[in-house]
This record gives sequence, structure tokens and C-alpha cells, in this order.
Amino acid sequence: MGEGKEDVFILAIESSCDETAAAVVKNGREVLSNIIYTQIALHTLYGGVVPEIASRKHIEKINQVIETALSEANITLEEITAVGVTYGPGLVGALLVGVAEAKAICFAKKKPLVGVHHIEGHISANFIENQDLEPPFICLIVSGGHTHLVLVKDYGEYEIIGKTRDDAAGEAYDKVARAVGLGYPGGPKIDKAAKEGNPTAIFFPRAVIEDAPYDFSFSGVKSAVLNYINSCQMKGIAVNTADIAASFQAAIVEVLVQHSIQAAKEYGLGKLAIAGGVAANSELRSSMAAVCKKEGILFYHPSPALCTDNAAMIGSAAYYEYQKGTRHGWDLNAVPNLRLGERG
Ligand code: KG4
Ligand code: ZN
Repeated sequence: MGEGKEDVFILAIESSCDETAAAVVKNGREVLSNIIYTQIALHTLYGGVVPEIASRKHIEKINQVIETALSEANITLEEITAVGVTYGPGLVGALLVGVAEAKAICFAKKKPLVGVHHIEGHISANFIENQDLEPPFICLIVSGGHTHLVLVKDYGEYEIIGKTRDDAAGEAYDKVARAVGLGYPGGPKIDKAAKEGNPTAIFFPRAVIEDAPYDFSFSGVKSAVLNYINSCQMKGIAVNTADIAASFQAAIVEVLVQHSIQAAKEYGLGKLAIAGGVAANSELRSSMAAVCKKEGILFYHPSPALCTDNAAMIGSAAYYEYQKGTRHGWDLNAVPNLRLGERG
């Protein structure tokens, strides 16, 4: 390929939930290919991800997705430097498909194996389109399974400064969307419906946790929305879906923005990034951008396609882990509840 000897090409694999994804990433920041087979349509039939179906579909699609990623990047398995794979957290059966595939490739082609934490992947999505972004910075990770406020001290070095006590932000979006009949996945649907609604039409609670200014709680706002819908139905009042969506979103976004800005100010870093599926939310992005501008904080965010699950972000994280010397053996296993900063 005429590349310098020092170039590092990572083949990355992601299968922790309902996307079967593979990518080739050069030197941690340049995406040569990023292939995603999404199972969303399949799971929509059931109103959410069915783990058994997800695993089976991953098995069916993974080889094809990897082959496409390699051919689009115009690279062969022999030319790959290492394979990076998500090994947790996520659905165990789904994760195992990617992990087994990565191990098989590494064994057959004698390549180093680098296990990646899914959340580290989400954070690293920011490195791909922001070539100037270097740690330290504060990152808000908001996905279907996680809501974390993290101090990124260095590549691969994290301190969790806040997290949700109950539901993840994306989970709250998905549950509220189901309750108002918008279906799965709820985040993008609420995002769209909210554009037609009034964010101050209904007041939903913003949870504050005493003594833990960076922790979150979203079960209260979710219950408040469900109660509001119930009481409207009992009184025979028609619910306004757009107003509910806009008012619920305002409650979620306000808390996410406040906590993140406070953390960026307190830690004095002047740099704030967002990551995870909910980071694709248009209201979160515009509110965060406006407040960061006012406060003189540099705001970083991946484009929406790199916020939701993908393998390019895993390739970026794997590169920095590879450079630090992280190598996994044939005993690498899927760890469904892997914690950030923990070594598997
Ligand atoms: O990061 P992700 O793809 O998967 C996990 O690791 O969980 O995040 C999926 C979550 C889902 O809850 C989905 O509803 C939410 O991200 N999401 C959004 C938007 N797009 C996806 N939430 C709000 N607004 C969006 N535009
Ligand atoms: Zn994710």
C-alpha cells in the first residue's frame, strides 16, 4: 500500500448490542472504512432488542461485514497490524460473536488481539473528527445502557466522576417513546417529535442528588411522564405527543448540560466532549454548544453516525490501547458488566 512502516492499521469489530460492525482505522484517527449492519428493523417488531435474535444475526452477518470493511479500505488481513474488539459491556451472547471472530482471525493470521471497552470506544469517537482533541478533557457518555461523566486523564485513563443511579438517558428516551406510542428506538423519534412541540408545556422534574452533584437519576422524570399520560387518559384528555416529547427532552437535556458544564468548570479543563447514542440528539448538541460558547469551553462531539454504535470508534480506542502495549490472549472472554478502567 506504499505506507510508512510505522503506520498502524486496526481491524475493529463491534457486536455488543444490535449492530454488527467492522471498520479499518489508520493510526487511531483516520477511518478507511466503517461498515454497520443494523438489526434495528428486526428488533422493532418486538419493541426492543431481543438478545437471542441479536446473537444469531451477528453470527449470520459478521463475516460479510468484515469482508466489506477490508475491501472498502483496500487492505488485506495480512496488512492489518492488530485486531481490536469490544469485549464488554453489552449482551453476553452478542459480545461473544465478535470476540470469537477476532480471536479466530488473530490466531489464523498471527496478529495481536486488543480487547476494547465499549465506552472507551464511544469516548474515542471524538478523536476521529477532531484531530486537535487530546486528553485531558471531560466527556459525557450518554447511551442506551450508560450515563457517565468521565474525566479523560490520558488515552485509556479514566476517572468516573458521575453516573446514573437508575435508568440511562437513552433508556429513559426509549421507555417514554414506547409510552407515547412512538416505538423503538425511541431516542431519534422523540428528538424529531420534540421539534414540533413546546418544551415548557408540561413541567417534568429535574433530579438533583444531594452530595453527588455529578450523578444522574432519570427514573423520576420517566415515571412523571408515564403518570402524566395515565392521568390524561383517565380524564379523557387527548395527549399531545409533541409537547410531551419536547417537555421530557427539555428535562433530560437541562440536567445533562448543567452537570457537564459544572464538571468542565470545576476541573478547569476548558474542554468538553459528548459521546454515545444520545449524543446524536439535536437538542443536547445545540444546548451544549450554546452554553459552552457562553462559558468559553471548547465543545467536541462526533457526527451523529459516530455517536451510535459503530466499529470505527472501537478502532480508535484499540489504537491507543495497542500503543500502550495492551494485548489480550486466547482466554479473552466477553464481560457483560465490564467497568470502565477495569482490565479483563
Ligand atoms: O450508543 P448506542 O448506539 O448503544 C448503546 O451503547 O446503548 O445508544 C443507543 C441509544 C438508544 O437508547 C437510542 O434511543 C439513543 O441512543 N439515541 C438517541 C438519539 N439517537 C439514538 N437519543 C436521543 N436522541 C437521538 N437523536
Ligand atoms: Zn454504545
